[in-house]
Amino acid sequence: MSALNSADTQWVSDGIAHLSTLVDSDLPGWSRTGFSEQDAAARDWIHGQMRALGLSVSTDPVGNVIGRLDGQDPNAPDIVIGSHSDTVPGGGRFDGIVGVVGALEVIRMLQRSDVRLRHGLRVVDFSNEEGNPQGVKLVGSRAVAGTLGAQALGATDDEGRTLAELMAAGGRSPEHVASARWDRRDVAAYLELHIEQGPHLEEAGASVGVVTRVCGISTFALEVQGRRDHAGTTPMATRADALCCAADAVLAVQRIGASGTDTVGTVGAVTTSSPLTNTISEDARVTGEFRSPDERQLHELQRALAQTVPELDARHRTRSELMWKTDVPVVMDEALSNLAIAAATNVGHQALRVYSGATHDSVEMSAMMPSAMIFVPSRAGRSHCPEEWTDLVDIGHGVDVLAEAVRLRDQA
Ligand code: GLV
Ligand code: MN
Ligand code: MN
Ligand code: MN
Repeated sequence: MSALNSADTQWVSDGIAHLSTLVDSDLPGWSRTGFSEQDAAARDWIHGQMRALGLSVSTDPVGNVIGRLDGQDPNAPDIVIGSHSDTVPGGGRFDGIVGVVGALEVIRMLQRSDVRLRHGLRVVDFSNEEGNPQGVKLVGSRAVAGTLGAQALGATDDEGRTLAELMAAGGRSPEHVASARWDRRDVAAYLELHIEQGPHLEEAGASVGVVTRVCGISTFALEVQGRRDHAGTTPMATRADALCCAADAVLAVQRIGASGTDTVGTVGAVTTSSPLTNTISEDARVTGEFRSPDERQLHELQRALAQTVPELDARHRTRSELMWKTDVPVVMDEALSNLAIAAATNVGHQALRVYSGATHDSVEMSAMMPSAMIFVPSRAGRSHCPEEWTDLVDIGHGVDVLAEAVRLRDQA
């Protein structure tokens, strides 16, 4: 039995509903991309909510909103809870947001229940978890972990604009990124509540999941060089059509992505600098990614694509170059995950252990401190789309588990 009152689902629902009004109406779904005007408005609102709850609050140079509830022992390192309030373009109302509003409700539950923790409790709305046109994900949590370096800040979008420029245009101060870094001696544990974004909890009829590991991601860019020629006069048999090679590469990624256990492969874009119907494409760029729970398997997927590309070049008379960036899978902390499962039991739920094919701020946090994640079901497993949905009753259960996990960790 928990000593805490249950989550106030109406308050959580109102918070999620309010954030769903702070969106870019020029984009589909519920869009609040990192460093946009709407992102700043949402972070200001969360800052205000934290102040109203009596937390000491700051927004750091990269836009992380951080509130802190004092604990009884000033020497005890903080327990950290939170997630992100930014969305993908055309996204939904729950991804990340449930974990931020849920963390605020945990503060309210402690206050309603007159429970004073020994540890300080740090609540975070991480900045730009979803990434940006520059291709950098987990921006806020990387800054906090000290892994947002010059290379990431200098990454460019298709127009040559750097991440640092995007951040500055959004009112943040990338030149002060170093001061966003946390001292790992100040933090004890990270607990993140998130929607599953996949179908497993719903299929199993489970209200709550605890994450075993978070996917590794190998992102690639394939640059294909063909030959520019007249589309009406060049025989089909002698062409070097970069776009045809790219099309074959897209299907190779689909085939390779399906080859392992829990592996996936996705192409995000195919572009060419000469989008003309009367001229054969001399170049094409294919960007995509593979994901896997297993690092060795991730390397297998990379190897399979690397072996396929020369075959495609031979077929299409093209020359291609393949470039990679890999983030390895991360195992969540066993003891803290067991504590989250015990917390679920205490509040009446049997938690299912699940793998996360989406990445999370917990990946960066796990390099600093023991980290664990609590999942709640996604209807039909849909996410990163306007149809994304989690029932309020399940969100409430997730918040109950998060609050109880904080209480158990505080006593550990
Ligand atoms: C973000 O949600 C990701 O998993 O890439
Ligand atoms: Mn998310
Ligand atoms: Mn997401
Ligand atoms: Mn994500």
